[in-house]
Amino acid sequence: MILETLSLFSFWNAVNVFCIISILYVVNFYFLYFIRQNPLPGPFPLPLVGNLFQLLLFAGDIGKWGLHCQEKYGDIWETYVGNAKIIWLARADLAEKLMSPSRDSNYFHRTWENCGFNELGFSASGIIFNRNKTTWAFNRKMFAQAITSSKFTTPAIEWVQTMFVEMEGYLLGLGYDEKEFNFADWIPRLFTDMLFAMTMDKYACTLATLYNSHNPPKLAPYPEEAVAESDIFVKSMRKQFHALKYFRFTPEIIRNKTPFGRKKTKDYLDNLVWLRGVLINIIREKREKIMNTDEALRPDLMTLLAAVNTSKDMTQKSESIVEPPLTDEEIGNCFIDITSGGIDTSSNLICSIIYCIVKHPEVKKRLRFELDTVLGTDPVRIISHEDLNKLEYTEAVIQEVSRLHPVTPFVSRLPDKDDVIGGYPIKGGELLFVSVSGIQLHPKHWHNPKEFNPDRFLERDRSSIKCEFPMFGGGLRLCPGRQLAMTEMKIIIAMIFRKYDPELATPDTTPKYKYEGINRCYELMLRFKKRID
Ligand code: HEM
Repeated sequence: MILETLSLFSFWNAVNVFCIISILYVVNFYFLYFIRQNPLPGPFPLPLVGNLFQLLLFAGDIGKWGLHCQEKYGDIWETYVGNAKIIWLARADLAEKLMSPSRDSNYFHRTWENCGFNELGFSASGIIFNRNKTTWAFNRKMFAQAITSSKFTTPAIEWVQTMFVEMEGYLLGLGYDEKEFNFADWIPRLFTDMLFAMTMDKYACTLATLYNSHNPPKLAPYPEEAVAESDIFVKSMRKQFHALKYFRFTPEIIRNKTPFGRKKTKDYLDNLVWLRGVLINIIREKREKIMNTDEALRPDLMTLLAAVNTSKDMTQKSESIVEPPLTDEEIGNCFIDITSGGIDTSSNLICSIIYCIVKHPEVKKRLRFELDTVLGTDPVRIISHEDLNKLEYTEAVIQEVSRLHPVTPFVSRLPDKDDVIGGYPIKGGELLFVSVSGIQLHPKHWHNPKEFNPDRFLERDRSSIKCEFPMFGGGLRLCPGRQLAMTEMKIIIAMIFRKYDPELATPDTTPKYKYEGINRCYELMLRFKKRID
């Protein structure tokens, strides 16, 4: 009886203590909120979750939510993740300081330090997540040197065309010139196969695997073992992408202190160890080949990176070499960065580009006119580097689609020191989001901003659009893959529209997107009709 009373008492006591702590927490949260320095307008936050619930009203689509907030609060506003403030900037002049390429910029870091990335070993290595300015600068410089060298770009242009022809064969083989299919299933695979070929001179077989999964009368012409082996590697890469999300957003206590978390963490870490091991073996093979042959090597990106700053460097003259070569681990992490940054971005944008072109027949007509003029009317003529430079309207179409439907709706920066932006004081360590969508649709920068008009990119002085068109971010962290991305996209759009006339499954078909760190297109139903005009 006494025990029962005691347990009842302690239960209600616990409830009381919990209620008191909660009330104190809420009071403290709003006290700090209302006395905060330099308040900006913004949605009202809730304790613990901040503005997460408002974001959920937009189905997690942070780009759309940003545009909604901009309309309501102006070009600079604040939101909360828990107690932490995030300041949004949605006008080019407000983002200018963040987009400065100066080595002394206050805006090197992209976000807060993340213990998950530390655990994965990415915080001081590679490019995208690297927080160490010295190793980041070195890796990025070598990467940029290799990716922009003519030794790489010429074969890259060939690889894109070879892979496209392969995909085209599969689509026709499955009758998709007449039957509708989900193009969004195919295009990331095209980019995966392309990037594997460009970076390692290896075939990832993801197109072949998808084709074979439809039980065609004749399987793709690759040995089964090669397809199976690549499949294991590609699955491991994909698992690594999921690991990035898991390590970034799952609190350490759940990751490492709960049975479920520990199992998952171990699974992801084992996968990363396996993946790094495979990559290091490939890199060592490349190094051996580089050192033991005097013949010209096929310049895939890994070969170029492995040779950089050695006597076999193909990207610079030996007298300019002053730095050490990259380590195997650095090259392996660069490869992971390239696949993280270079597959989903471009492939998702291609879906939006096809949709916009199909929906605007006058744009399609002008695009075709340019393609026929520059490339001629032979639909299988090889596209050269010189041709690509002449495809100005094609490039303007790609830019205009990206302006209206950016794959990355915002980029973030964390100032090291206090600063003043647009007259508003910000503190070092306060997170800033540059709203790419907000700037790219701002009426101050763009006439009739919602109208689809590729000509605006032909008419504008290119230097004036630096901060007004942050498709590839900007400043120190500007995307180093932008030239390659543009090359790939121009070739693919040219190869599609000079020979085919994609038709939406129904006149009302629209691409379907989900925000997953980038805007991912998961459905675009169309028929790959042959061009008849
Ligand atoms: C349409 C295609 C692409 C888009 C829209 C895109 C966009 C971006 C954006 C917005 C950023 C962040 C920039 C910033 O924070 O200011 C970025 C960074 C990056 N991108 Fe891209 N990207 C594309 C293609 C590629 C490709 C093809 C590669 C590699 C082959 C690549 C590699 C990277 C890397 C390594 C970074 C990190 C740079 C750093 O932290 O210093 N991207 N990209």
